[in-house]
Amino acid sequence: MLNFELYNPTNLIFGKGQIEKLATLVPKDAKILLAYGGGSIFKNGIHEQVRKSLEGFDVIEFGGIEANPHFETLMKAVAIIREQKINFILAVGGGSVIDGVKFLSAAANFEGNPIDILKKRILFKDVTKVVPFGTVLTLPATGSEMNSGSVITIETTQEKLDFGGSALFPKFSICDPTVIASLPKRQLQNGIVDAYTHVLEQYLTYPHEGYLQDRIAESILQTLIQVGPDVVQNPTDYALASNFMWSCTMALNGLIQKGVPSDWATHMIGHELTALYGIDHARTLAVVGPNLYRVMFETKKGKLTQYGKRIFNLTGSDDEIADEAINKTVEFFHTMGMQTKLSDYTKDFQKTADFIVTRFEQRGWKALGEKQNITLEKIQSIVEMSY
Ligand code: NZQ
Ligand code: ZN
Repeated sequence: MLNFELYNPTNLIFGKGQIEKLATLVPKDAKILLAYGGGSIFKNGIHEQVRKSLEGFDVIEFGGIEANPHFETLMKAVAIIREQKINFILAVGGGSVIDGVKFLSAAANFEGNPIDILKKRILFKDVTKVVPFGTVLTLPATGSEMNSGSVITIETTQEKLDFGGSALFPKFSICDPTVIASLPKRQLQNGIVDAYTHVLEQYLTYPHEGYLQDRIAESILQTLIQVGPDVVQNPTDYALASNFMWSCTMALNGLIQKGVPSDWATHMIGHELTALYGIDHARTLAVVGPNLYRVMFETKKGKLTQYGKRIFNLTGSDDEIADEAINKTVEFFHTMGMQTKLSDYTKDFQKTADFIVTRFEQRGWKALGEKQNITLEKIQSIVEMSY
């Protein structure tokens, strides 16, 4: 097992009715910026619950953070934070609002040009330099409620870039599974597939000595397979909703990544597809992931075989099991309402591979994956196979 440090200071408050605890979680003297997205929180009553819990607090609201949050929009909120001397930010939303708030937290006191946070991928380690924030999660998927990463889109250049650091964990996150009742089917499906792929990024590498990490990862996959199709049909079923939400958090709160190799190339390529075509994050993963496993078959065969045996009970030779495990993954994605070809989303795909490869080359991203052997040629093949 590789050496590791596990640091996760987020106070996770999970369960029904937990939004009531907000007043005890936010610092007493806080001047709060309540940040939200396109307005779903007004329709499902979450805004009302939050405001009720925050009665007596000094709160300014900032709405309009879009899915795949834009740097340009967020800079308007940075100006408000600076002018109004905001000292606490509350994100009420899904991964996009939470990621947006991480950027606000980092950018408010940043001494340089905030675009460099993204362009230079600045690492934030000093908690005294960021504005503290908490979250009320409304969409299980990204794990952003319990990790310190963020992905922001620069609209003007159509780039989607990530940054983060140990100073950017939420102080607290309230995860009430009943919030999923108002989610459209498409977002429920996205949540399952995003979380599933987060586990695969950290699990489908090569055989190693992290036996416990593998077993935890497999149990998250099994739980997502168990609840995924049903929760889309019955989002008000609390057993399904709570297992869905907790699985998503556990898939990307850092735990299963400790002491083991990880890949993340599916996400890096997927982010480009969202930046270029606006395809939902999870749906890009369903397009790219299986083709990445096919192109990197020899590298990943050992782990694909373990995955096939333990998750899908497959039998046969290692080659057969590994190959069938990829097919079963695609099948699961289809069950979850995903389309798995780029041409299902756009007719304008012929030059996508060239474009992505050129971009990665310019950024110096020439060797990705757990063995740093996903070269530009491999990326070209993966994207072309995804057409
Ligand atoms: O904006 P509103 O009106 O709130 O509507 C949102 C949005 O349209 C809606 N929604 C959220 N909660 C709802 C709801 N509608 C009804 N009822 C509710 N309870 O759902 C839509 C999508 O929301 P969004 O936050 O964009 O979805 P998600 O949570 O999937 O986040 C995706 C973003 O997270 C990034 C992605 O790249 C993408 O930008 N990721 C962040 C990660 C991280 N920080 O660790 C890791 C992930 O791999 C991912 O890259
Ligand atoms: Zn993801």
